Formats: sequence, structure tokens, C-alpha cells
Amino acid sequence: MPQLRSAVILAAGHGTRMKTSLPKVLHPVGGRSMFSWAVALAREVNAGLICAVVSDKSGAVGKAAARELGGGGVAVQHPPQGTGDAVKCAKSVLEGFEGNVITLYGDTPLIQGHTIERVFNALDEGASIAVLGFEAADPAAYGRLILASDGTLDCIVEAKDASDAQRAVTLCNSGVMAASADLLFSLLDEVNNDNANGEYYLTDIVGLARQRGLKVVTVNADEQELMGVNSQGELATAEALFQARKRACWLQDGVRMAAPDTIYASWDTHIAPDCVIDPFVIFGPGVSLGEGTHVRSFSHLEGAVAEENVAIGPYARLRPGTELGAHAKVGNFVETKKAKIGDGAKISHLSYIGDAIIGADVNIGAGTITCNYDGFEKHTTRIEAGAFVGSNTSLVAPVRVGAGAVVGSGSVITRDVPDDALGVARSRQRDIEGWAESFRNRKKRT
Ligand code: UD1
Ligand code: CA
Repeated sequence: MPQLRSAVILAAGHGTRMKTSLPKVLHPVGGRSMFSWAVALAREVNAGLICAVVSDKSGAVGKAAARELGGGGVAVQHPPQGTGDAVKCAKSVLEGFEGNVITLYGDTPLIQGHTIERVFNALDEGASIAVLGFEAADPAAYGRLILASDGTLDCIVEAKDASDAQRAVTLCNSGVMAASADLLFSLLDEVNNDNANGEYYLTDIVGLARQRGLKVVTVNADEQELMGVNSQGELATAEALFQARKRACWLQDGVRMAAPDTIYASWDTHIAPDCVIDPFVIFGPGVSLGEGTHVRSFSHLEGAVAEENVAIGPYARLRPGTELGAHAKVGNFVETKKAKIGDGAKISHLSYIGDAIIGADVNIGAGTITCNYDGFEKHTTRIEAGAFVGSNTSLVAPVRVGAGAVVGSGSVITRDVPDDALGVARSRQRDIEGWAESFRNRKKRT
């Protein structure tokens, strides 16, 4: 009978080693905070109850936690006195919960759901506590997992408290542990702060469980997946690992990238098979590309959804709220924002299209600008199906260009253009015969 699950996410430390005003767990990996990665992981493994431990409910982390989990899922640890003390603070939120608890640290963003499943499985197979560990190339400051002769886990020793022999151990603690809620909180009551940091270590529950004759096991996974982020350098390493993982998935799924290392993704970037992404493309959050879409170099996309066979870039900037219909084209030096662009519509060069609804097969000439903002409010431009907008047109919103209409190039359109009409709004051309020649002659004489 599978046990109910809950998760405690530790996020109360400031992360002084980051040397930033932004709390560590709010630093992003793949465009999403490390804290949000932990919440997503807890949800992925079906933790019915999730508790975040923060240092201050009204601080940035407290607010982020309340947004994601609701106020009831947030516990306060003040002042932070170590990871064991932090988990203890979750007790009130987990009051009455009967089942297994997993501890997740807010600074290990790359852990995957199937790995957490293996930790829970170890409890189902009879362990009282399961600890997720890894073989570290350079164990540095990680806690060391000290095994008993039968291969079970004897204790965890923090690097600062370790003997030379213990420090030589390369099997390290990821911070992820699972145990029944009852056992976890009863062991935490026995943890003291008699160590190099003067903190209450969560890791001490392993040795305490052994003293009660309980079985503690390790579940091992890959170091790269379990890495903890404590510095800007480690954050950059985690980002690189995330990007590599995402690129590998796309290549596997039939996305063509000649230079994958130059393409940057966000956590939720979705690229369908048969897309081609040229070198040097950046995907901010909220991008989804349909099959056969081609993104050319130096384009920057965020909050943009494209259907099939869309052509984007080079040098396109797609901002949030961009929707591109099938076979649409957004070319070089085009910026779009909150723009719904119909099937087959083309905006090939040098345009700003914002707060706009553009129908199917519309052609927008080079240098067209939607003047969407009057300094106070944003207004919508509608361009109906089949319309042709000449180059260098300003469309002063709110305004509508009717279906099949043509706008003469260089126009400043302030009133609606009827369907199938020609709208021209520019001064008439005047030619003065001989003027240029006499001008030159005058200049040469002086
Ligand atoms: C911890 C582990 C170490 C492990 C490593 C894995 C302990 C004592 N040590 O060390 O064995 O190898 O993680 O990355 O657990 N936090 C709180 N309240 C506190 C202290 C920390 O909520 O009082 C949170 C932090 O915000 C962070 C997490 O707990 O998300 C880990 O804290 P951190 O100080 O980074 O622990 P490490 O020194 O990395
Ligand atoms: Ca850490």
C-alpha cells in the first residue's frame, strides 16, 4: 500500500555565499527560480502536502512561496539555525499528516522526479530513512556519507566536522532524505547544535536513527543532477547543465540545431519536431513552436507561440503575447508584442507591431510601426485579412485597416481604412523643374 507523500522545501537561508541582495533560492536556472524548481519537483512526485520553510513571510522568498503554495504551505524559521531546525519548523504545517516526507533543498535545481521516486521506493522496501547521495569528483564542502560495513548508511558528517579520513570519502549528501513524518520529527527532537557551525543539522538524524537500530540506506544518482548551488560560479554551472539537458532532449526529438551550444532555452520552452533553430537564438519563458518552424540566428523570443511552418528572424524580437499563425513570417529587426498574427501573414523587415490583430495573408511593408501608446494607455490596431500595408506606415491606434485594403507607403493612418479601399495619408509630391541644378550653381559661386 503506497504511503501518502509530503515535501518540505528548505528556503530559509539567505545564501550569503552568492554575495547578492537577491536571496539564493530565487536565483533562476532556465528562467525559473531554484525555489520554483523544488516546488515543481514536489508536485511531480505527487506530494499532496508541500511546506516551504522561509525566514520571513513578508520577504521575497516568503511571498514567492505563498504565491505558489498558498499561505498555509509556508512555515517560518527565524532565525535560521540550520537545516534540522528548518525541517522542524515545518511541523505545524504537517500537523496530523501520516505518511512519508521528503526533504528538498531550495538550492538543488536539477533533481528529476524519477530519482525522487527511487528514494521513496527505498522506504517501501523497508528502510526507515533513505538518503540521496552521489559520488563527487571534488567533494569540497558537501556532507560525507559514511557507510557501515554492510553497505547501509552509518552517519553523515559535514565537511567542517569531518576527520581527515572522513574527508577523503567521496560519497556525498544531496540533502534529499525521506522518512515517515513520525520518525523524522521524533529524531529531529534529539538533534543538538554541538558542531563546527553551531547549527542543528538535518543530517544528524541518520546517526540518531542508527542508534535506535533503524536501517538507513543511500540511493545514488549522478553528481550533475544533484549538485547544490552555493555561489555564482555554481549557479552558472547549474545553468549550463540545464541547457545541455534541454538541448539533448530536442536533438533526440528531431529538432535540428547546427550549433546547439549557442541556443539558450527556458524551463518551459517547447519546440516541436522538425523545427530548425539556427545558431545564437535565445528562448525566454513561455515559448512554444509548432512543427516545421524555422528560427534564424540572433532572434530573441519570450511569451510567443508559433503554429506550424512559421519563419522567424534573423534578428527577430518576439515579446510576450505574440501568436503566429501557420506559415506566418516575422523577419529581421521586427519586434512584436501582444500581437496575433494570422496564417500566412508577413512582416518581413524593420517593424514594431504591438497590441495588434493581424488577419491572414496580410503583408506589412518594411518600417511599419503600430503607434499603440499615447503616454497613458495602449490601443489596438486591427488589420483585416488580405490587407497590404505599404512601407514606412505609422498606424495610430486605435485604428482598423479593412479586409483587402491597401495603405499607401509613408502614410500616417489615424482613421479606419474601409475594406478594399486605398488609404493614403501623406503630402502630395511636387516637382520643381531645374531646382537642383540652379541650387548647385548657386553654391559653387559662393
Ligand atoms: C547541505 C548539507 C550537506 C549537503 C549539501 C548538499 C546540512 C547540514 N548539510 O549543506 O550535507 O552535502 O547541503 O547541497 O544539511 N536552509 C534553511 N535554514 C537554515 C539553513 C539552511 O532553510 O537554517 C536551507 C537553505 O536555504 C538551502 C538549504 O537549506 O536551501 C541548504 O542549506 P545550505 O546552507 O546551502 O547547506 P550546505 O552547506 O550546502
Ligand atoms: Ca547548499
